[in-house]
Amino acid sequence: MKTILTISASNRAESINAELLNYAVKHISNVEVSALNMQDVKLPFYNQDLEASDGIPSLFESIRPLLDSADGYILACPEHNGLMPAEFKNFLDWLSRVYTREKPAFGGKPMLLISTSPGENGGATNLATLARLLPWQGANIVASYSLGNFYQTFEQDKISEQEHAAFSTAINNLTTAVNVG
Ligand SMILES: Cc1cc2nc3c(=O)[nH]c(=O)nc-3n(C[C@H](O)[C@H](O)[C@H](O)COP(=O)(O)O)c2cc1C
Repeated sequence: MKTILTISASNRAESINAELLNYAVKHISNVEVSALNMQDVKLPFYNQDLEASDGIPSLFESIRPLLDSADGYILACPEHNGLMPAEFKNFLDWLSRVYTREKPAFGGKPMLLISTSPGENGGATNLATLARLLPWQGANIVASYSLGNFYQTFEQDKISEQEHAAFSTAINNLTTAVNVG
């Protein structure tokens, strides 16, 4: 059975992006799901002097197997002032040092990007940036989906009817690319 790793990039306990991620997982069957939550990833702020003196944080000994064993990824990422949260950027900086250009973190495997926010754009500005940046770390972005106006469009724990077609297409792009049986 194929494995999909979900990455929740919010560090907020009541994350609405994590809610959307859980909803996405409910729409995928016949896969193993593993999870990486940025709330559990406490890293020092990257700097080259720190890396030279202390090396790579030992936390990556448990993160690496999660990334390496996955056949595909769903990344749910909030938008902070048009960009990813600073802690997640810090994680990506460390990741670029743990892996190499020849063997990048996401290994050329399929990735679905999702986001939501209380605003109209739903974090789409940041997703467009991630879709440009993450291929440098080996992500094969197969779809991006942003849900705007979260508190109006995600009522009673589900996406409204008119949003559902675009959401389903994004999920299908991932499951097709991962070749879920
Ligand atoms: C510092 C900060 C900056 C934000 N910037 C944006 C933004 O650029 N675009 C947006 O749609 N929402 C923005 N928001 C609102 C977030 O979308 C909202 O807080 C959301 O709940 C964050 O996602 P999370 O709950 O998954 O952490 C911002 C929130 C904070 C705290």
